[in-house]
Amino acid sequence: MSTQDDRFDDLLSYIGRELDFETDFYNNSYLDRRITARMRRTDIEEYGAYQRLLDRDDEEKDALLDSLSINVTGFFRNPDAWEKLRPVLRELTDNNRRVRIWSAPCADGREPYSIAMLALDDDEIADHRIEITATDINHDTLADARAGVYETSQTSDIAEELEPLDDYQLYVDQDENQFTVKDRVKDLVSFEQHDLIRGDEKTDFDLVLCRNLLIYIDSSFKVPIFETIRGSLRTDGYLMIGMTETLPTECRDDFEPVYKQQRIYRRS
Ligand SMILES: C[S@@+](CC[C@H](N)C(=O)[O-])C[C@H]1O[C@@H](n2cnc3c(N)ncnc32)[C@H](O)[C@@H]1O
Repeated sequence: MSTQDDRFDDLLSYIGRELDFETDFYNNSYLDRRITARMRRTDIEEYGAYQRLLDRDDEEKDALLDSLSINVTGFFRNPDAWEKLRPVLRELTDNNRRVRIWSAPCADGREPYSIAMLALDDDEIADHRIEITATDINHDTLADARAGVYETSQTSDIAEELEPLDDYQLYVDQDENQFTVKDRVKDLVSFEQHDLIRGDEKTDFDLVLCRNLLIYIDSSFKVPIFETIRGSLRTDGYLMIGMTETLPTECRDDFEPVYKQQRIYRRS
C-alpha cells in the first residue's frame, strides 16, 4: 500500500507533468502548505483524492496554479531596508557613468518601480544615470508589471505602501482605488522574462535586488542562483536580498555585509 508520502510525491509528479509547474525548484514544505490550503477549500483530506479532482476539474487546476505562484509583493516592501538602499544609490550615482540595476524577480513591478521612484524623489540620487532591468519567470506577471496599474484591495493598501515618498502623486495617477504609474517612472525600467535557475548570467550590474524568492526555493538551487548573481555583478557591486533570507554558507565569502540587518552586501 502506498503511504501519504508516496501519494504526495505522485501528486507533485502529476503537477509537474499536467500543470507544467516545476515542483523540483521549490521546497516541499512550501508546496505542501499551498496544496493543503487548496485541499481544505475543496473539502478533501487525501493527496490521492485531490489528484483525482485535479484530473477532472480544469478550474481547480487553475486555482492550484494560482495558489502556487509566489506573487506577494509591494511598493517599498520592508521600508527600513529601502532607507539603507538610499545611501547606496547616492554613492553609485555619484560618478559620471551609467548605473545598472537588476530587480530579479520583479513580480508585478512594484519593486523596480520603487527603485525608480526613490531615485526620482531623492535630490542626491542622479536618476538620469539609472537604468533598471526587471525580470521574472512569469509572463502574465510581466504583462501586469508593464501596465503598471495597481488597486487597493483588502490585502494591499497602495497609498500606504507609497508612504516612504513625500508626495506619491508625483509618481502615480490616482483614480479612487486605482493607481497608475506615470511614464517618468516607467521610463527608467525595462522588463524581460528570465529564469534565475536556468537562465544565463547577465553582465556589469552595479546592484542586484533578489528578494523573497529564495525562501521558497529548494536548497539545492540556491547556490546556482547566487552564482548567477555574482557573475552578473561588477566588482564591488551591491546585492540586496529579502529581510528574512540568508546567504547560503557556500556563498558567504563572495559577499561582504554592508548593512547586515537590511541584507545589503557588496561583492568581495
Ligand atoms: C514573492 S515574489 C517577490 C517579488 C519581489 N522581489 C519582492 O520582494 O516583493 C516572487 C516572484 O518570483 C518569481 N519566480 C519564481 N520562480 C522564479 C525563477 N525560477 N526565476 C525567476 N523568477 C521566479 C515569481 O513569478 C514571483 O513573481
